[in-house]
Amino acid sequence: MRRSASIAATGAYLPERILTNADLEKMVETSNEWILSRTGIRERRIAAEGETTSDMGARAAQQALDQSGIDPKTIDLIIVATCTPDTAFPSTACYIQAKIGATRAAAFDLQAACSGFLYALVTAEQFIASGAHKTVLVVGAEKLSSIVNWQDRNTCVLFGDGAGAVILQHREGGRGIVSFDLGADGTQTEILSVPAGGCRMPITPEVLKNRSNFLQMAGKEVFRQAVTAMNRSAEDCLEKAGIKPKDLRWIIPHQANSRIIEAVAQRLSVDMEHFYVNLDRYGNTSAACIPICLHELNTAGKLKQGDLLLMVVFGGGLTWAGAVLEW
Ligand code: UT7
Repeated sequence: MRRSASIAATGAYLPERILTNADLEKMVETSNEWILSRTGIRERRIAAEGETTSDMGARAAQQALDQSGIDPKTIDLIIVATCTPDTAFPSTACYIQAKIGATRAAAFDLQAACSGFLYALVTAEQFIASGAHKTVLVVGAEKLSSIVNWQDRNTCVLFGDGAGAVILQHREGGRGIVSFDLGADGTQTEILSVPAGGCRMPITPEVLKNRSNFLQMAGKEVFRQAVTAMNRSAEDCLEKAGIKPKDLRWIIPHQANSRIIEAVAQRLSVDMEHFYVNLDRYGNTSAACIPICLHELNTAGKLKQGDLLLMVVFGGGLTWAGAVLEW
């Protein structure tokens, strides 16, 4: 029999440094008015010089451990969702394993860009559901400031750094992850990518000159695809869970653009008050968005046992994912 996997603890870490829209006005040709009206973002956090994805991920994980009193030595597995790893290898998960002293844990990274955290959560759930593992740490952590082209106003205003973490365990009587949907369309890799830096296009003086080692995005096309895929994924998860949008206490959407979130809300006919939104404060933190939201809701006491949540995301790949969770 499958064992349910519930979230036993949450944590989050946001770097101290705040980069406001007014700050960006001094860096590229943009305005607070444009950024706010087109995206909903007011400010984002930027990691300190030398602060890495694993530093941030470990801080978020440590908070989840402290909050729950779970001994790091009881963690069986660490999965880190990130597209900005500390190094190509070893994995960021291995750095985090050492930093939190999870000496018994297996550790690996999972890459599905902005959809990474839900991909990782669903993967973690399989280990709990099968009975193979009792305690799995799932981290979403990103230092997007390291891959953003700070000369490109089309993208540099959108992203921020941060990390979130959850600890997954079986809980008697709880349903945990009720349904999920994972998807990808690898025919559209070029509309959101970092073209250079891998084996396909190694770093050369030419690459550095063209700045193709930084994130590139066809914003309008990504926007269109995000609305369609997030809506489809949300409906799929609801159908599999046998519930209606009105049964949901919270919808936690990918925090890329408030206009995408409003479009999804409209298509699902769900009032915006049920959507949790913090992109005004952090921008798009990619794989870190969902666990940061979960942690904020949890610490604010806005999650009660039995509440149904829908999480739904979209990102490079293209990838998308949704999951219904009973708290
Ligand atoms: O996490 C992965 C998922 N990512 C997303 O979901 C992002 C999806 N895309 C978006 O959120 C939006 O497409 C953007 C916010 C990126 C852009 O908004 P848009 O309404 O699609 O604007 P646009 O790209 O069509 O640009 C409209 C105008 C252009 O000027 P012209 O060509 O009309 O003269 C841009 O050059 O706005 C200009 N523009 C800016 N102006 C001031 C683009 N970026 C800026 C800027 N400041 N930062």
